[in-house]
Amino acid sequence: MADLAAFVFMFVTLSMLSCFQSFHVVAHEWPAGGSTRFYDFRVQTMRVTKLCNTKEIVTINRMFPGPVVYAQEDARIIVKVTNETPYNATIHWHGVRQKLSCWFDGPSYITQCPIQAGQSFTYEFTMVKQKGTFFWHAHVSWLRATVHGAIVVYPKTGVTYHFKHPYEEHIVILGEYWLRDVVQLEQQVLASGGPSPPADAFTINGHPGPNYNCSRNDVYKIDVVPGKTYLLRLINAGLNMENFFAIANHKLTVVEADAEYTKPFTTDRVMLGPGQTMNVLVTADQPIGKYSMAMGPYMSAQNISFQNRSAAAYFQYLGAVPNSISLPAKLPNFNDNLAVMTVMDGLRSLNPVNVPKQIDTNLFVTVGLNVNKCRSKTPQKNCRGMNNGTFAASMNNISFVKPTISILEAYYKKIGGQFTVDFPGAPLQFADFANGAPNSAPNNTQAINGTRTKVVKFGSRVQLVFQDTSTVTTENHPIHLHGYSFYVVGYGTGNFNPLTANFNLIDPPYMNTIGVPVGGWAAIRFVADNPGVWFMHCHLEIHQSWGLGAVLIVENGKGEPETLPHPPADLPRC
Ligand code: C2O
Repeated sequence: MADLAAFVFMFVTLSMLSCFQSFHVVAHEWPAGGSTRFYDFRVQTMRVTKLCNTKEIVTINRMFPGPVVYAQEDARIIVKVTNETPYNATIHWHGVRQKLSCWFDGPSYITQCPIQAGQSFTYEFTMVKQKGTFFWHAHVSWLRATVHGAIVVYPKTGVTYHFKHPYEEHIVILGEYWLRDVVQLEQQVLASGGPSPPADAFTINGHPGPNYNCSRNDVYKIDVVPGKTYLLRLINAGLNMENFFAIANHKLTVVEADAEYTKPFTTDRVMLGPGQTMNVLVTADQPIGKYSMAMGPYMSAQNISFQNRSAAAYFQYLGAVPNSISLPAKLPNFNDNLAVMTVMDGLRSLNPVNVPKQIDTNLFVTVGLNVNKCRSKTPQKNCRGMNNGTFAASMNNISFVKPTISILEAYYKKIGGQFTVDFPGAPLQFADFANGAPNSAPNNTQAINGTRTKVVKFGSRVQLVFQDTSTVTTENHPIHLHGYSFYVVGYGTGNFNPLTANFNLIDPPYMNTIGVPVGGWAAIRFVADNPGVWFMHCHLEIHQSWGLGAVLIVENGKGEPETLPHPPADLPRC
């Protein structure tokens, strides 16, 4: 017994130390058994200078990007989050399915009230049958811009990858950087009724690279040994843009998407929407030199201004002349929808999977923008959307409004007045969504406000078809579902037609965020076997702020293994 205690103590100590590891580590050996990982997250402000500008940003432990959470499949992760800033905070563990632990999921006003200044909350969950690259991020206001970091979950001891073990692995976080305070920025954008200004720079692991003002030396770099193969864990933690990623003269082989294995697929570039993660292999098989690793915009919407310059990092061979010019990476055009489709077509589950064939709950959900009529007495100030209206966004034309306490708490404690259960399973009005939805903004592009949820029975086999609308503009929307991974059984352009839609029920990818094609549709399937209150929303932050979301409530099943436990004692209060 004493030995065991000593071992546990030692392991816990080691776990805490690992908070301070740098994040390009060589994959290491792991002690056997279901382990527990402890982390101490302090939400703290920090002064940083980027693009010749010094400002305060909100971080975890004064790191940007934040500390990496390392674990192993089936491990328990415990993170105490203490808020030492004046802002409200929560942390969401993106892609973690939170089996029977919905209380620890993190989206503000959905599963918890924010952690207020000076308060703390301890998140506890298990990586049940999950491994791969995930990330954590703030899920309140626009703090995610700087409050984010990777979660790396290794296979169980002795279990190998489905590809040759890489020589080294590196985390590559794609981000967006604003010189303005992002909490104020959200408020200002919402108050204006208009669009969000673009980010001041894209970043790779927090570094913009040489293409921006004053950033020639603010560059992330990976040193590589000629001939070796590297695993890059790509994470898009950006707010409002989808991004292409490519390395000059090098092929990328995708082996995992959204923390699930895929059939190896080799490509010149990938596209990740915010909320998506992807593991790619890169072999240093080119002449010794300095190659650019670049992140550029994918903008499928019309008439939106966006950051057009790409962020660049270096993929630098040992022996390359340090000050040499780097070879530029070839990124697709910002509007190359075909390049995006090609990446999607390449994503297949590694092995045949068990897709629900019979469906109990069939939902059809439109996703898109709205323009509401101006209600302000100062339209020049507050109605800067299209045709002097105010921008909004919706699912089935319902614009999601956050309640004043969390929906989970209201549901669990049967507190009335916080939400309704009438989220429609289909649009209230059908139209040619993809090509000609009502578009006389703001006269007939009005959304209905509501905190509406859809209640689903435990064990239901759900199919959900997302349909992009052309109200204001068609656009690729990265739709994320909390609490589940889902099979992406089909997608296409135009309007969804059940008679002609082609479904892959053999080896569809198992994802948690699906980029619904611009002016098109995507169909997902999953079994609702995880009780709780689960947010489903566009991971473009501005769309979420405008209401592009809805909530699924999955009821308890029978007995303890199918029932959500009691809330933790330290659950934050609003
Ligand atoms: Cu990564 Cu609800 O978010």
